[in-house]
Amino acid sequence: MDHQHIPAQDLKMPRVENSLFIRSAFSLPVERPPVWMMRQAGRFMKEYWEIKNKYSFLEMCKTPEIAADVTMLPVNLLDIDAAILFSDILVTGEAMGGDLSFTNGIGPRFANPVRTKADVDNLQTGVLDKLQYVADAIRVIRERLNGKIPLIGFAGAPFTVMSYLVEGGSSKDFKLTKLMLHNEPELAHRLLSKIAVVTADYLNLQIEAGVNAVQIFDSWAQALSWDDYREFSHYYIEQIISRLNRKDIPVISFCKGSSVFAPMMAEAAPDVISVDWNADLLTIKRQLPEGIAVQGNLDPHILYADKKVIKERILQLFERMRGQDGFIFNLGHGIMPDIPFDNVKYAVELIKEFSY
Ligand code: CP3
Repeated sequence: MDHQHIPAQDLKMPRVENSLFIRSAFSLPVERPPVWMMRQAGRFMKEYWEIKNKYSFLEMCKTPEIAADVTMLPVNLLDIDAAILFSDILVTGEAMGGDLSFTNGIGPRFANPVRTKADVDNLQTGVLDKLQYVADAIRVIRERLNGKIPLIGFAGAPFTVMSYLVEGGSSKDFKLTKLMLHNEPELAHRLLSKIAVVTADYLNLQIEAGVNAVQIFDSWAQALSWDDYREFSHYYIEQIISRLNRKDIPVISFCKGSSVFAPMMAEAAPDVISVDWNADLLTIKRQLPEGIAVQGNLDPHILYADKKVIKERILQLFERMRGQDGFIFNLGHGIMPDIPFDNVKYAVELIKEFSY
């Protein structure tokens, strides 16, 4: 079927505007907090491996039917309250000219790292045609979800994507990236500006294709000092958010380091701030302007623990947040690949039993 030419209203989709997730994202009252989890479709599921054993990770992302199958795994197996597009934050870097591959056990790699002015100048910005597969996947997923729950789209924040482009892959200390910020700030800004333009276009493409919310992932912001975060990360996130064709689409801003940066993140005017597990969530919420919701913030390691501990810690978080509008249950970061599936399922069931 050609999904591109079916007007949304003809898909007979119930509206997702009144879902727990969208209402909470806009800080409206709900009967219980909604739950979804970062990396909810992934290696902790044997059903993920059944697909992964047949295709490479990038093939999975780039084949809309497969990306939809994977997106739907946690919808069907965990009955969570929001789906997140199956893709990766590094596809923007690839579309700009990065030679991207993912290897089991090693993770992402760019074979042509971006380190000089010539490297930065070589990166392209008018690249939406190379990302159409994401719009196609979104259309297939929307049809499969049939309005049951909202679909979250996402992109990487410029600083985090930059770190992969400059380092050529994952890094522990971001040495080369930070060296570029400190020794060659103009070059760093040139690179970040290019990524920011592509990221805003890319999120607008996803909104156009039908996602119901977007999340910006700045996973490695915690590597930055306060001033560097403002200059090299926050500034670009603010630009991206201001360029989004938001309509009624909530914007979630996530970073590792949000327990420190949350007040600054709020200046970019997201609807939701996704908080790591270092801070008390209610304390963070109280620091934020009225109308900004929080998402988080269970330590994902709790999901390795005994069910008794999982229950205690989830109830503790709920008691803390009781009576607060604008609270979306999530982890402080993604589910690890070796977390027992049963524990994740138990956590989701427990959260869904809760009521205010
Ligand atoms: O949350 C979801 O379920 C949606 C899909 C999603 C993936 N990556 C799938 C994925 C999302 C939202 C991401 C975002 C992403 N990718 C981030 C930001 C979120 C975060 O966790 O901080 C980052 C930093 C990346 C970059 C990336 N992609 C890394 C570091 C890795 C390797 C991870 C590892 O532990 O080895 C990936 C690969 C990746 N992205 C996998 C998945 C399911 C594993 C691929 C595989 O099956 O081998």
